[in-house]
Amino acid sequence: MPKYRFAIVVGASSGIGAEIVRLLAKEGCKVAAIARREDKLKKLAAEFPGLVIPVAHDVTCFDEVPGVFQSVTGQLGGLDLIVYASGVMPAVSGAEFDFAKDRQMIEVNVLGAIAWLNQAAIRFQNTKCGSIVAIGSVAGDRGRCGQPVYNTSKAALTTYMEALRNRVARFGVKVVTIKPGPTATEMTSHMHSSGMASAAAVASFVLRKSDKTGEHYVKFGHRIAFFIIRHFPSWLFRRLNV
Ligand SMILES: NC(=O)c1ccc[n+]([C@@H]2O[C@H](COP(=O)([O-])OP(=O)(O)OC[C@H]3O[C@@H](n4cnc5c(N)ncnc54)[C@H](OP(=O)(O)O)[C@@H]3O)[C@@H](O)[C@H]2O)c1
Repeated sequence: MPKYRFAIVVGASSGIGAEIVRLLAKEGCKVAAIARREDKLKKLAAEFPGLVIPVAHDVTCFDEVPGVFQSVTGQLGGLDLIVYASGVMPAVSGAEFDFAKDRQMIEVNVLGAIAWLNQAAIRFQNTKCGSIVAIGSVAGDRGRCGQPVYNTSKAALTTYMEALRNRVARFGVKVVTIKPGPTATEMTSHMHSSGMASAAAVASFVLRKSDKTGEHYVKFGHRIAFFIIRHFPSWLFRRLNV
């Protein structure tokens, strides 16, 4: 008996999201795999005939989300789990202030998550069960000079998830934020990958924690380190120049 029978993974065409789809399908769960690159989704679906439904969708088309959500849950025949893994982190140089990049990060990493996870919250609040999972990041724990708006987007996502948890946990709904550190995926392909976690390992952690309401750092060391870093006074954190 699989842990989940019906799941939606948003941001399923590569990286952590694609690995989550694979792990769910391997257990016999029926999964709707959502992202823009339909070719990648179809290849993923072909690995698990009859179990993975590829759905081409751009999460920044916010008005389409309620209709796609209804259609997908209908095709699946139910919903036990939703994972929001869509995310972008364009390269930003130290002196760059590019509103187009900033806007894209807020639209994909925050507004898309709210559009999708609100739909799941409405459904699960009524059914009084289900798991809502978002992939946050350790990058949301402080405002750093290197990626101001990526940091902002992950902090906003974490706060939204906390508020959602405080609203719907009382109905028996699990609301889970996962905070990975650097992970070897397309997003980080321009960086040195030594020491990074694999997407498969992070995906496995996500599913292990997916019914444990709360926030979870993927690495235990990050839990300790970021507890300390979060409590640095701002003037001291600024001097570190990270
Ligand atoms: N890699 C890391 O070091 C790291 C660390 C901490 C947290 N995270 C987070 O983990 C999550 C997964 O990222 P990843 O590392 O697995 O990167 P990835 O391989 O680049 O995956 C990103 C996913 O987001 C989807 N996406 C981007 N824009 C979209 C849009 N407009 N509409 C729908 N889907 C969209 C992509 O699909 P399409 O392009 O096909 O639409 C892709 O499936 C992200 O939220 C990221 O911020 C990553």
